[in-house]
Amino acid sequence: MTKPLNGIKIIDFTHVQAGPACTQMLAWFGADVIKVERPGSGDVTRSQLRDIPNVDALYFTMLNSNKRSLTLDTKNQAGKEVLEKLIKVSDVMVENFGPGALDRMGFTWERIQELNPKMILASVKGFSDGHHYEDLKVYENVAQCAGGAASTTGWWKGEHSEPTISSAALGDSNTGMHLAIGILTAIIGRQQTGKGQKVAVSMQDSVLNLCRVKMRDQQRLDRLGYLEEYPQFPHEKFTDVVPRGGNAGGGGQPGWILKCKGHETDPNAYIYFTVQGHAWEPICDALGKPEWKTDPAYTTPKARQPHIMDIFATIENWLKDKTKYEAVDILRKFDIPCAPVLSMKELLNDESLRKSGSIVEVQHKERGSYFTVGSPIKFSDLKPEITGSPLLGEHSDEVLAELGYTKDQIATMHAMKAV
Ligand code: COA
Repeated sequence: MTKPLNGIKIIDFTHVQAGPACTQMLAWFGADVIKVERPGSGDVTRSQLRDIPNVDALYFTMLNSNKRSLTLDTKNQAGKEVLEKLIKVSDVMVENFGPGALDRMGFTWERIQELNPKMILASVKGFSDGHHYEDLKVYENVAQCAGGAASTTGWWKGEHSEPTISSAALGDSNTGMHLAIGILTAIIGRQQTGKGQKVAVSMQDSVLNLCRVKMRDQQRLDRLGYLEEYPQFPHEKFTDVVPRGGNAGGGGQPGWILKCKGHETDPNAYIYFTVQGHAWEPICDALGKPEWKTDPAYTTPKARQPHIMDIFATIENWLKDKTKYEAVDILRKFDIPCAPVLSMKELLNDESLRKSGSIVEVQHKERGSYFTVGSPIKFSDLKPEITGSPLLGEHSDEVLAELGYTKDQIATMHAMKAV
């Protein structure tokens, strides 16, 4: 089956998560992604958090499926020449080295354009060019702090009221997804102009792009002095910065995480319950509270907000004898937006996710089979087939032969430790 990105050759000069997540997705959609790694060690995630001795860690295998691996010491002259050849025949080069590393290697944007004017150079950095922190190296949680996620996540009072990190990779994989959109846009742009271009995405900007509702709230707070949908309203004081809102809904619909049967022993026996304004009457029916339908203290969102936590407490009382699944099965009949809090174990075993290809089982030469995420994007005419990640240097000789190197030349490069 041909895939939309067949024929697009990508030099995947990425490591850790942000860059690899981007190139993995492009590989799923048909691009030929050649992962360039340092001989001997490769991407650091191959050996980080290993669960099987001497076998590529899941950290690596889950971010590098459908790729080929070429080892190359790009600080060695022979290695540099291979990269130059590769640049000449490729469409895209993706990198997420620390600031200035690619330039120090001798591959400035000017040099890359000289080698191939059609090349698209796609980069992830912690901060954008010219930013006063542009020299900083950045990992996930640093980006979550710099992009507004940490200051607006978590609790605003109590023992654990410090800024909080989300386990979702807002800084890493999210930046990779932004980069993928940038690359595809540049490919379409190149069809019009015949020229490549530089695409840059910073982790700070990518986190901020997902935190835009908090920037909305800062401007509302500046104007009004309060935020009516936050749990602090109306009984607590607001300062001049957007506070952390616990588990409140971020939009116009109040919501909260509520305990269900078994929460004393199961850390995930909870549901998220949303009080959608126009669904108030069905909520009253579902909870067996028909009197709330006409009581002026309940009929409008404004009337409910001052005692929304009491309303949630009443719902929790209703949930006491229901598991999270039973509760959702009842509430869905009333069209109430809700979901069980699902653990990773439950997700890994979720039949629907397996059926849709969102979680797939793949084979790895040394590991055997493992589970990984499949494409979250579904197409009517494309079914991404997820394959295992490559071993370090598994495709070095194959790629070098494609670039025109003879067997003897390849052997010499191995002897010189250039590959
Ligand atoms: N051959 C030879 N040298 C190589 C090489 C190869 N195949 N691949 C990498 N290197 C070199 C680089 O040229 C660089 O050398 P230099 O600093 O002497 O010029 C060196 O390896 C280190 O690269 P760097 O990217 O700075 O690695 P690091 O481990 O010190 O930092 C990060 C890791 C992730 C903090 C840093 O890469 C970074 O800030 N990246 C941008 C933001 C990002 O993507 N963060 C991670 C999100 S998951």
